[in-house]
Amino acid sequence: MTPGNYDIKDPSLAEVGRQRIEWAAREMPVLRLIRERFSREKPLKGIRIAGCLHITTETANLALTLKDGGAEVILCASNPLSTQDDVAAALVEFGIPTNAIKGEDDETYYKHINTALDARPNLTIDDGADLVTTIHTKCSDLLEGIFGGAEETTTGIIRLRSMHRAGQLKYPIIAINDAQTKHLFDNRYGTGQSSLDGITRATNVLWAGKKVVVCGYGWCGRGVSMRARGLGSQVIVVEVEPVPALEAVMEGFRVMSLLKAARVGDIFITVTGDKNVIDKAHFEVMKDGAMLANSGHFDAEINIPALREMSTGQRTLRTYVEEFKMKDGRCIYLLGEGRLINLAAAEGHPASVMDMSFANQALCVEYMIQNKGKLEIKVHPVPEDIDREVASLKLKAMGVAIDALTAEQQKYLASWEEGT
Ligand SMILES: NC(=O)c1ccc[n+]([C@@H]2O[C@H](COP(=O)([O-])OP(=O)(O)OC[C@H]3O[C@@H](n4cnc5c(N)ncnc54)[C@H](O)[C@@H]3O)[C@@H](O)[C@H]2O)c1
Repeated sequence: MTPGNYDIKDPSLAEVGRQRIEWAAREMPVLRLIRERFSREKPLKGIRIAGCLHITTETANLALTLKDGGAEVILCASNPLSTQDDVAAALVEFGIPTNAIKGEDDETYYKHINTALDARPNLTIDDGADLVTTIHTKCSDLLEGIFGGAEETTTGIIRLRSMHRAGQLKYPIIAINDAQTKHLFDNRYGTGQSSLDGITRATNVLWAGKKVVVCGYGWCGRGVSMRARGLGSQVIVVEVEPVPALEAVMEGFRVMSLLKAARVGDIFITVTGDKNVIDKAHFEVMKDGAMLANSGHFDAEINIPALREMSTGQRTLRTYVEEFKMKDGRCIYLLGEGRLINLAAAEGHPASVMDMSFANQALCVEYMIQNKGKLEIKVHPVPEDIDREVASLKLKAMGVAIDALTAEQQKYLASWEEGT
């Protein structure tokens, strides 16, 4: 470790962080298998990896897997509020320079990204594409040494595809989020459970009987809606696309415009990846006591500057609960500063589901090394065999057996001759 290439809150938190990382590892059997193989085979030897990720116990297990595979790993936070300071301290002790402090301001956030880039990585791992965009816009001298990258989340992939369309993307990236073993599970069950966990920890609210408005019925929105219903809430879904809106209707949720939902909702949760979804017109008609939380990647989904402007005063009532007093006396509560509530106010996704997402990350890093110089410069899907391997290993770890096609069935499914 070079002095000065890490920046954390408090090194004395390392022991607590180490124990929590160990606890998460117990729920990550697929990543553990990969780590064991990487330790033996060292497939990442000599590779420098910069990771811009939520600094959580699960990410620590990914970083240790990459390190055991022979890589030099340096980390920075992918969100100013998602860092677990004890984990950051433990990572530094494990020899993984980490640049992340919970609650860091925007300037420190980008300073940390720049420190990670000073390591001159060969591969990047992003969650939201801030590393890739910084490299392309401000550190293009690094491009010659980089042969690939991996992107964890929906919003990052949208940004990278847009870069590629504009002819700006200069190295190949694998869209980890698009693996079935990622978004079907992490975004749905992970974000579903942990977003409600974050709101509960921040507010201690009772979900039963509440009118919960979920903005966006994508993979995260499906999970949030499903779990809120499970806790007894009346769920209202807001969408802009007809197909997911129809799916929500057939799942039994009420679907309506946000302007209408704004008048009746008790808790609003945005998971769209979009901007200013909840805006001035909605704040104007919300009930006294309405709570607003975001679990999408950026803190842009709720128009916080407009809310600030419309209010006559603000105060923090509890950690991650900010009260906005409106001119007519109503109070609206913003949770977790509008940043992803599951990581700001809770611990992010449970390890068991990150096991699959990060198994995809580790195997895709290996794949990019094996295919160095051969991948076209674009956003690639996760290879299907990696996706299937992750699912098979997870099932095996869970003690679940499935059947195999017989030779007759394989032939039947591949043919067209047999009919009625
Ligand atoms: N909190 C977390 O830990 C976590 C985990 C995974 C993904 N994410 C982030 O959550 C966001 C959603 O991810 P996803 O995988 O569900 O995406 P998705 O593309 O599957 O779903 C997004 C949905 O939002 C809808 N939408 C867009 N604009 C809207 C608007 N103005 N009003 C209502 N609906 C609108 C879209 O039609 C789409 O159905 C992304 O920013 C993603 O990066 C967060």
